[in-house]
Amino acid sequence: AGAESSAAGGKLVMVTNAEFPPYEYHDNNDIVGIDADIAKAIADKMGMELEIQDMAFDSLIPAVQSGKADFTAAGMTVNEDRKKNVDFTDTYAQAAQVIIVKDGSEIKAPADLDGKKIGVQTGTTGDIYAGDIKDGNIQRFNKGMEAVMALTQGKVDAVVIDREPAKVFVKENAGLKILDEAFTEEEYAIAVKKGNTELLEKMNAAIKELKDSGELQKIVDKYITA
Ligand code: ARG
Repeated sequence: AGAESSAAGGKLVMVTNAEFPPYEYHDNNDIVGIDADIAKAIADKMGMELEIQDMAFDSLIPAVQSGKADFTAAGMTVNEDRKKNVDFTDTYAQAAQVIIVKDGSEIKAPADLDGKKIGVQTGTTGDIYAGDIKDGNIQRFNKGMEAVMALTQGKVDAVVIDREPAKVFVKENAGLKILDEAFTEEEYAIAVKKGNTELLEKMNAAIKELKDSGELQKIVDKYITA
């Protein structure tokens, strides 16, 4: 299959959705961020080249399943449903879904989202959790940033999205804030094709080394300043 043959050729193909700072985003023609750096460090440890391809978030798991890519690193939350389709490495980050609102919004906690218009990125856990909101009117966007733009324009009442990109988007757009109470706690991991234990084990060994050596924390600190 594709995954094995590209691995044998000395190159690992990673897919991501580079609309998710600080984990993956465009910097001129490059895709940079925590996931890009972690993937590069893992590939280095495996003695392999890394190629990163950008695509829609909801195409990532299918790309891994079909063998078009060896793995996806995309700030992807581990959940039971996805585990049916891909195998996840050990987790490398704690995360959360948070709620962004306009300053002065009447939405002050997750419970206030009932009956409101919620912006999310298609196929994300934010999308899934927003589905649980009573009478919620979910508006799906290709990019998290587009959901945030809709919020600034008053087209949605709130955005449910991961905490770190939320911090970046709120910083870039005046008049927005993140509610103190998170919606969910989650964990990120890399996903490989189901049954590709050889790659999974190599990646887990590399992740462990990166954790133990402090290299992983260094990568995080490069992109997230307290
Ligand atoms: N953590 C969320 C999820 O897994 C959002 C990830 C979005 N990642 C991205 N690269 N756009 O659904």
